[in-house]
Amino acid sequence: MESQPGQHMTIRLDVAPNPNGHDPKTHEQRIAQAAEILRAGGLVAFPTETVYGLGADATNAAAVEGIFTAKGRPHSDPLIVHISGVDNLPQVARDIPAMAYMLAQHFWPGPLTLVLPRAANIPPVVAAGGDTVGVRSPSHPIAQALLRAAGVPVAAPSANRFMGVSQTTAAHVLADLDGRIDAVLDGGSTSVGVESTVLDLTTSPPCILRPGGLTLEALQAVIPHVIAPSVSLDATDASAGQALRAPGQLNRHYAPATPLVVFDAEGARGAATVLRAAREAVGEGKRVGALATNDEAPALEAVGAQVARLGPSDDLAQVAQRLYAALRSLDDQPLNVIYAHTFGQVGMGLALWDRLRRAAGGVLQAADDKEAAQ
Ligand code: TXA
Ligand code: MG
Repeated sequence: MESQPGQHMTIRLDVAPNPNGHDPKTHEQRIAQAAEILRAGGLVAFPTETVYGLGADATNAAAVEGIFTAKGRPHSDPLIVHISGVDNLPQVARDIPAMAYMLAQHFWPGPLTLVLPRAANIPPVVAAGGDTVGVRSPSHPIAQALLRAAGVPVAAPSANRFMGVSQTTAAHVLADLDGRIDAVLDGGSTSVGVESTVLDLTTSPPCILRPGGLTLEALQAVIPHVIAPSVSLDATDASAGQALRAPGQLNRHYAPATPLVVFDAEGARGAATVLRAAREAVGEGKRVGALATNDEAPALEAVGAQVARLGPSDDLAQVAQRLYAALRSLDDQPLNVIYAHTFGQVGMGLALWDRLRRAAGGVLQAADDKEAAQ
């Protein structure tokens, strides 16, 4: 089944718990149908606990090509291969170090991708032509059921057009990719909300290439010598030496179409800076959006900003879960600018910091100093 963008309908297979559903097909039949499409070389979007993935049979180079076509993604950006569990690891990787098994035991299934030497039956197109492969076992029950039914490893990037915001609902996947993919399994909103943590085990010590849903602190508890992500604040992608080690880690990524300005300060100082900037921009006649926690929202609305709520300030897991849908809801409105602030770099704050920075084109703005923010 060749995926030809724009030439066929995308089947929406509802697998979310729905007591009033009138489609007679059972949950298992829908999973089986999606698995059959994958085995035939088609493209199926499916929920994982992080974001929706756009899957193809990872052992079928032609099917994997379809992912790049549907997303408009350059071949220099490698894909993550999804497996149901550690037993399948030797199908996709070779020379697997003991540390991989130890980490899998602690964190799989879950939001941790391990970069390992690539096995021969995973074609080079999956890995941007390199000798390594990123692999993870997602914990979402629908992803697990699909992987078991398909019986093949599944290459799946986030299910969005290249550079755009990752999708956390099936409706958002369709808004981006309807007609370009064969099917989407609708399992409702994803729970983690930001992509997996990518850990390179081919270097010693292991090095985090992308912070994500599994925190640095959780990894450090198991491998204390892990190297934290190195961040180049230089906005030019080519300048980063890290570009070679972490292909696909573009400084501009996860980005809305509306200009996004992110101030690098958490808590009251970040909130005060966003409020000051929003008030000024509204005063200049601009239509202003803001990403804000629940407690920050009323003051922003009072100055005339459109606010997308991220949840309580002290619940960064919820902020992460809501981030992409919130960004998307503002981007869908006719706004001139969106303001946001960071959430520190501890725990889930680090992945939020990384995604907000990339969504803003790789550049963070200094927040107002304390006195001015009063
Ligand atoms: O949570 C996730 O990781 C989601 C869900 C669907 O699993 N997937 C995802 O895939 O975010 P994607 O393609 O949007 O991002 C994968 C990133 C690549 O851009 C690249 O930076 C890194 O993972 N990556 C994948 N394979 C790699 C490899 N062999 N070496 C270095 N980095 C790799
Ligand atoms: Mg992506």
